[in-house]
Amino acid sequence: MIVNLLDDIPHGATGQMTPFDHQAIYDKAADGYGRSHDRWLRHAGGEAQCAFEGAVTALLQPGMRVIDVACGTGTVARRLRKGAGGAFNLTLLDASAAMLDHCSDITATRVVGCMKNLPFPDNTFDLLTCAWGIETVDDPAKALAEFMRVSRPGGHICIVHCADRPAHSLLGRALRHRITTSGRGRFLNHDLLSRQAAMIGAKRIQTLHCTGPAAAMLLHV
Ligand SMILES: C[S@@+](CC[C@H](N)C(=O)[O-])C[C@H]1O[C@@H](n2cnc3c(N)ncnc32)[C@H](O)[C@@H]1O
Repeated sequence: MIVNLLDDIPHGATGQMTPFDHQAIYDKAADGYGRSHDRWLRHAGGEAQCAFEGAVTALLQPGMRVIDVACGTGTVARRLRKGAGGAFNLTLLDASAAMLDHCSDITATRVVGCMKNLPFPDNTFDLLTCAWGIETVDDPAKALAEFMRVSRPGGHICIVHCADRPAHSLLGRALRHRITTSGRGRFLNHDLLSRQAAMIGAKRIQTLHCTGPAAAMLLHV
């Protein structure tokens, strides 16, 4: 079952979808998303994705409450499900119902919602993951604050995102240009994002080692 929490949300209000968000683009892109994302990982984001997945796998424990925010077509969730014997409670949230439709094979609660206004009480999750999602909203700081709010003290938040650093290859540069001009996302300043995480109360912030136009970090809540 998919719970849709976006129907009544007007555009333009703080913490809700705005015309600067990218949900409509992903609704249209859903069917071909896997192919273009694989290309991005092969030529630019793969190192950061590995760092992210390594951290997440190490943290995952049976019985945890886990949420994958901006889950897309479920790339991260399928890998998560192979960890900790699959014995944890998983929620998948995305603003695009079309993207979430591709996750119907994954055992999880699927929620259509906005990361700037997460429909969960404070301190709900032990582990929150967000891969290539925070750069798709107009206000990443607001999303970060929501990630912190719904994570329990002692929990973790793991993020991988497009970063404003040079690409290693011509193809990497071309993909970066395509992502920006197609409106699929922005290339965020990782140091600024880390400072924002510190300001909203992350106890410890670890930048995971990776190079190229992508960055990953682990926040200790
Ligand atoms: C680049 S895709 C990443 C998908 C997936 N995490 C992955 O690793 O392949 C970005 C996702 O963010 C979702 N998204 C965009 N704006 C959002 C918002 N305000 N709240 C939640 N998800 C959003 C899009 O629908 C899309 O599925």
